[in-house]
Order: sequence, then structure tokens, then C-alpha cells
Amino acid sequence: MKILLFGGAFDPPHRGHISILKSAAAYDNFDKIIVMPTGTPTHKKNCTAPFDVRLYMAQTAFADIASNVEISNWEGTNLQEDYTYRTLQHLQSEYSDAEIYMVIGSDSLFTLHSWKNAEFVMKNCTALVFAREDELEDDIAQRAAELEKMGAKIRFVKAEIINVSSSQFRREGEINADIITDEVQNIVDEYSLYSADETARLKGTAKLLAKLLLDEKRYIHTLNVEKLAAELGEIYSLDVEKLRIAALLHDIMKNAPKDILLHRAKQSGIINKIEDKPKQTLHGFAAAHYAKTELGIDDDEILWAVKSHTCGRSGMQDIEKVIYLADMLCEERCFEGKDYLLSLAKQNLDKAMFASLEHSLAFVKSKGNTVDTDSLEALEYFRARLARNL
Ligand SMILES: [Fe+2]
Ligand SMILES: [Fe+2]
Repeated sequence: MKILLFGGAFDPPHRGHISILKSAAAYDNFDKIIVMPTGTPTHKKNCTAPFDVRLYMAQTAFADIASNVEISNWEGTNLQEDYTYRTLQHLQSEYSDAEIYMVIGSDSLFTLHSWKNAEFVMKNCTALVFAREDELEDDIAQRAAELEKMGAKIRFVKAEIINVSSSQFRREGEINADIITDEVQNIVDEYSLYSADETARLKGTAKLLAKLLLDEKRYIHTLNVEKLAAELGEIYSLDVEKLRIAALLHDIMKNAPKDILLHRAKQSGIINKIEDKPKQTLHGFAAAHYAKTELGIDDDEILWAVKSHTCGRSGMQDIEKVIYLADMLCEERCFEGKDYLLSLAKQNLDKAMFASLEHSLAFVKSKGNTVDTDSLEALEYFRARLARNL
């Protein structure tokens, strides 16, 4: 089975990528063409758009190129660091008779020997190297010959290279829209994905992520939380834009596969004893880790609001209180006593937090579920604050 593998950050995918993929696809009769956006490295945030957004843009840009194109989410969802050899091993395990052709740029010929497990990479795929329509430069041909002596299989593909780059788009996107297709441009514009205004970019990106990653019910809940958080933020003169970003991200891991949820919760650096945390609180910690690593959010107020939205904590800041209350009291929530708590939330955040925590803890106990120690500490924290203010 002949597989064509085309990997890249695709941040965003542009017409140059499409041109290369079309030429590569015409090189042979491939049974499958796999486009694979790279995962977001956890140690260095060098992509502007999160993996899930880049995956969506890649689906939009490449899916119609041929009927056998598949856009793979593998590099963004496996829990190990991405290396090409691991991707090849993964494809070999998926397709036992796989004969893999991998698209690379001619510049990669000069670094291939230093890739992790380079020998394995060279032996287990054929590199389809893109060269310009003019003659191959001597040093490229010489380098290819050297690598072939080391066991690499290298083929050159002549293609019309459209000389654009994603970084060029990110710099000039607003004035040079021809670099990307109209469909990708519409997504970029609607969600301000590369806006120079950081707040607009984060808010737009968070909204698209909520739409892509959550089921419909959870998405509507998220928009309702955003709405009430903004309303409360206005009342208490808080940073409404921060509240909107936190609200859009607070449940972003709610529909994530269990292994990813647990992995991110453990990585959040806040749960020392993850076994002690009730399962229903983990998605907040995982969401904060997602916000930090995928969107590059470093703002502690946003991260804490996302983390503590299910259980609360001692020492909560106003932004956290608002997200906790908006999550509990938003439009679609329906329970006895809600109207009272909502009116309290619009008068005094501490009183509303104390009453809401009491209500939640009573509910958890009535169901026979484990009571979270952070919630108990939060209750005592607000009890003491209210007593001091009397
Ligand atoms: Fe939640
Ligand atoms: Fe929620």
C-alpha cells in the first residue's frame, strides 16, 4: 500500500502547501494521502494557532484535493513528543504493508542525518524532495548522493513552487490575503486567528476551539457562561475580555478522551495528588494546561479561573469567583434556589460564593459523592471573609 505523508505546522496552510501536495500526489498512484499537522511542542510555543485550529484549517485547505486524502490528528493527540520516526512507526502499525513516501523540502536534506533515529527514518520511507523547476543545484544533488550511500531513498519532484510561507502570512496577512484560500481566509477572519490584537486573537481562537471541541449542549453552556461572566464583570468593573476568554476555555477539555484529560491534568502542575481529586474536577485543571500550552496563555487570573471553576479554592480572586458563579448560575441551569443565588451574585461576590459553595457541597453529599477538599477550604475562606466584614 503506497502512502504519501505530508507533514507541516500549517499555521496557516497556504497556496504553496496546496501546490506541493498536488505535485506530490501526481508523482505516483498513492492509495492514501495523509496530511499530518505537527503537534504543538510543550517546551516551546512556536505556533500561533493551537493544534486543533491548525487541524481544522488543514481539513478545510486539503480535504478536497483528492478523494483519498486524510487529515490525521495523530501528532496532536498522541501523548509522546513528536518525532518523524515515531510517526513512521505509527503508520507502519496502522498499515502493515505500508510503503511510505514523505514530502520534504530540499533544505531538510542537510539536516536529515541529525533527526532522531535518522537511520530508521532513512530506511523506512522514501523522501520526495521538492526542487524548483529550474535545474537542481549541484550541492543538493551531491547531498542526496551522500544520503543515499547512508541508506536513504530519495526522489526529486519538480513542482511549481509558489514562493510564500506561513510566517509571511502571519506578518502580512491583512494586506496579502492571496497567500491562503478564500475558505481558510474566512476562518482566519471570523475568529481573528492571527490578529495583532492579542486579546482579540485569544478570544476568537478560544471561541473556535469551543465550537470544534465541544458537543452542542456544552458549546451552548459555554456561550451562556461567557454571557453571564461578562454581565457580572461589568457590575464589578472587572476585565470583561479576560472573563470572556476564561469562560470560553473553562470546559474545553470536557469532551476530551480520558487519557488526554488525565495527562493534561497531571501536567497542570497544581495537582500533587491527582488520586485525591474527584474526577469531575479534573477537566478544569486539564483545560488550564491546554490554555497554557496550546494558546500560550500565561495570565494567572485566567488560568486560575479555569482551574478552580468546578471546586473553588481558598484565596479566590474576583475573576475566579465570577467564572465559578457564571458556570453554576448561567441561563440553562435549572435548580431550586438558583434565582436567589443569581440575585446574590449581582449584589455581593463573596456572599454569593459562600451560598453557592454551601449549595454545591450539600448536593455532592446528597449524591454520596466525594467532597473536594479545595471546596471545603473555599467555604471556610469565604465564611471567614464574611465574618470579618460584618
Ligand atoms: Fe466544568
Ligand atoms: Fe461549565
